[in-house]
Amino acid sequence: MSCRRRAVPEARRDNSVPEARRDNSVPEARMTMQLLSLDNVTTYYAQMRILEGVSLQVGSGELVCLLGGNASGKSTTLKTILGIVQPRSGRVLLDGEDVSRWPVPQRIAKGIAIVPENRRLFGQLTVRENLELGAVLRGRDKLDEDFDRIHQLFPRLLERRGQLAGTLSGGEQQMVAMGRALMSRPRLLLMDEPSMGLSPALVQQNFQIIKEVHLSGVAVLMVEQNASMALSIADRGYVLSTGEIVLEGAAAELLRSEDLKRAYLGR
Ligand SMILES: Nc1ncnc2c1ncn2[C@@H]1O[C@H](COP(=O)(O)OP(=O)(O)OP(=O)(O)O)[C@@H](O)[C@H]1O
Ligand SMILES: [Mg+2]
Repeated sequence: MSCRRRAVPEARRDNSVPEARRDNSVPEARMTMQLLSLDNVTTYYAQMRILEGVSLQVGSGELVCLLGGNASGKSTTLKTILGIVQPRSGRVLLDGEDVSRWPVPQRIAKGIAIVPENRRLFGQLTVRENLELGAVLRGRDKLDEDFDRIHQLFPRLLERRGQLAGTLSGGEQQMVAMGRALMSRPRLLLMDEPSMGLSPALVQQNFQIIKEVHLSGVAVLMVEQNASMALSIADRGYVLSTGEIVLEGAAAELLRSEDLKRAYLGR
């Protein structure tokens, strides 16, 4: 499969509602096969259009990365998937079911978890308490099994289980954020810039863990600015530019693509 460049109109963000929307809809048959589908999603903050006709898919157990420069709409895409913001038009489908109007907890119960931008831990709670919060919505059953699994991935968190999360290093906080998301036993893990603020050695380690999580059968949609690192472990990738998908394809193809560099540089 080769990467596909998507046509983007000249004036990309004039903040007006387009008179005739381009039809980016994904055929029904293709969407229903997917764990997650965004079908022609347009998202606004007040009068400001942020996403325009975004269509993307994540298959069961797939690792997909969402690339793009600052303010291109990557975090907004994840927030639209989780339900923190609602699309003005278009649909979010999980297992082919339209969840566009579902509240966040219902989507989490259906198997989505997020490792948010800047981790967002509860600094005054311990590592263990933060992890446990990830299991609240599924009723905290068999907690010990989950703790064991998380501690296998992150032995450091076992050592630090009684420490306040606010006193952890950045790398340790990233481990807790990922561990907390995994405590809900997700089928789809959304990750927003997991390598942000980490040293090169920790970035490597972090990507290795994401790969392991993926290999354990969890689908991952990962937002990253570090395109080559992300593509080196991903199956497929999409590139956002000012709220539109401008490029998509197999990770290996995107890595070789001149269009990727151009899309990234916005030229
Ligand atoms: N709550 C909000 N209210 C108004 N505008 C917002 C809000 N959140 C984000 N935006 C705007 O939406 C645009 C896209 O933001 P978003 O956070 O999705 O970008 P991003 O691709 O994740 O960027 P970065 O790489 O810097 O994290 C930005 O111009 C931002 O200022
Ligand atoms: Mg962001």
